[in-house]
Amino acid sequence: MERDTPKRWRNGPVSEDTMRVGILGSGLMGAKLWTIFARAGHDVVFSYARGKEKLERLARDSGGTARAGTPREAAQEAEALLLAVHWSHVDDVLTQAGDVSGKVIVTCSLPLNAANTELVVAHTSSGAEALAAKVPKAQVVAAFQTIPSEVLFDVFEARGKATRPSLVYCGDQESGKRVAATLIRDAGFDPLDVGPLRIARYTEPFGLLVGQLAYDGDGGPELAYRFERFGR
Ligand SMILES: NC(=O)c1ccc[n+]([C@@H]2O[C@H](COP(=O)([O-])OP(=O)(O)OC[C@H]3O[C@@H](n4cnc5c(N)ncnc54)[C@H](OP(=O)(O)O)[C@@H]3O)[C@@H](O)[C@H]2O)c1
Repeated sequence: MERDTPKRWRNGPVSEDTMRVGILGSGLMGAKLWTIFARAGHDVVFSYARGKEKLERLARDSGGTARAGTPREAAQEAEALLLAVHWSHVDDVLTQAGDVSGKVIVTCSLPLNAANTELVVAHTSSGAEALAAKVPKAQVVAAFQTIPSEVLFDVFEARGKATRPSLVYCGDQESGKRVAATLIRDAGFDPLDVGPLRIARYTEPFGLLVGQLAYDGDGGPELAYRFERFGR
């Protein structure tokens, strides 16, 4: 795969640490995050939809800032992979991606049942830990699980203008976490390192709380959060 330099947006800071990012999943999260990462200057290949037409349309709409590919193409030369599929499709997309040894996999996938109402992995493990067990040679970082897709573009557009919302992330390898923190910052958030991957046992249910407020609250889904310290 050739490394094309993506066209860069002129109206915002470009990441100082550009990288090749492969996106597995082109739905609400994947399609928005690849647009954002591409606009931040990263070299993005996105993949995985039920029809090729959708991927081709998204590539056209990106104006050349990102390319569509197969999961294998997205994974091949990626320094970071974003996993953004329903929990029930994790095994399928990983099989299609092939060898992900040594890759940083940032997962926003929550381990939800088909109805998206219950966590199917919780309490004594988490989706992120279950994923890490499937790909033991990759560096799994849990991030972007706790933010509704509807707010992503607004947060990205507001970077540099407003106080950044927090975004929690966790993982076991410092190098993987640095990569995730760069992507989180480039998306307009303030990355908040909450510890090792097992802390996803807390962040994943918190993702459901944010979803509850976003989709069943009064204010609409354009919701982000920020942790503040007081009393110092
Ligand atoms: N949406 C949110 O606000 C949000 C927030 C936090 C975390 N999450 C988590 O992030 C993950 C992704 O969520 P999402 O809302 O982006 O999901 P989504 O919109 O349903 O997207 C999933 C992607 O998988 C593709 N797909 C589904 N079945 C497929 C198949 N059989 N073969 C090939 N591709 C297939 C879809 O293709 P099509 O486009 O063709 O359907 C789509 O690109 C989930 O685990 C969710 O729990 C979501």
